Amino acid sequence: MKGFAGKVAVVTGAGSGIGQALAVELARSGAKVAISDVDTEGLAQTEEQLKAIGASVKADRLNVTEREAFLAYADEVAEHFGKVNQIYNNAGIAFTGDIEVSQFKDIERVMDVDFWGVVNGTKAFLPHVIASGDGHVINISSVFGLFSVPGQAAYNSAKFAVRGFTEALRQEMILARHPVAVTTVHPGGIKTAIARNATAAEGLDSEQLAKLFDKRLAKTSPQRAAEIILDAVRKKRARVLVGTDAKLLDVMVRLAGPYYQQLFGPVMGRLMPKV
Ligand SMILES: NC(=O)c1ccc[n+]([C@@H]2O[C@H](COP(=O)([O-])OP(=O)(O)OC[C@H]3O[C@@H](n4cnc5c(N)ncnc54)[C@H](O)[C@@H]3O)[C@@H](O)[C@H]2O)c1
Repeated sequence: MKGFAGKVAVVTGAGSGIGQALAVELARSGAKVAISDVDTEGLAQTEEQLKAIGASVKADRLNVTEREAFLAYADEVAEHFGKVNQIYNNAGIAFTGDIEVSQFKDIERVMDVDFWGVVNGTKAFLPHVIASGDGHVINISSVFGLFSVPGQAAYNSAKFAVRGFTEALRQEMILARHPVAVTTVHPGGIKTAIARNATAAEGLDSEQLAKLFDKRLAKTSPQRAAEIILDAVRKKRARVLVGTDAKLLDVMVRLAGPYYQQLFGPVMGRLMPKV
């Protein structure tokens, strides 16, 4: 895939999964890439892959919840490469647990990374992507930003919030006539480490949940996800659904309206491992 030669792209959570695949595909497409993660080992592996492709790469440890560090990082990247065209706010975590048994801190942690991390990244890089004259903000939500399921309230809240925030940003950029496209990404089940890295409420078996995700729900490879996302970026699409499962679920929810809740609840109830 070509088409990003000379562009500078920033990818958070690039040490694994979709972020790593995005960084690799961007490098193959000719972009200069700034990658970051809290997992420095995963990040080093991604850096190696990008260097093997011959890409210009800047790799840094960055926790997306640390706002001041994120603001300083945005300036550093812009100074290093001379500009920034694209920011992929990708870093994310998952948590499973009914609201009744979840702690406030469990819900706050997911909101901090999955929502505030996206707000921090968008705000930090927005002046730079506007200044580039050909900018793009790409925020990773989920199919869980389109509908809710039991046990995913924290994740659903963060991903719905990412969608609301990003859809408002797209309209604002158009109204302000800024040269910035904005894309919200809604992946279905992607074969990454997300479930293995996830936490769960007390009494739930995280390992069993991860096995369920890996075996039954993760359908699309991260490489294919990255290709689909970059194709949508090239076309400056407002929304991209990643995977057949995401497309099917989106249609079901739109057809059923609020009645989807009567359908999905029992299905999820049957899928979830019993405590
Ligand atoms: N895998 C899926 O099925 C799926 C579906 C929908 C949406 N998503 C979203 O895609 C994005 C990427 O997830 P993935 O599936 O590749 O998972 P992953 O666990 O393989 O990768 C996520 C990366 O984010 C990093 N990260 C976590 N917290 C961070 C923080 N505070 N600061 C910086 N980096 C941090 C992790 O270290 C990891 O390298 C996430 O936003 C996730 O919610 C994934």
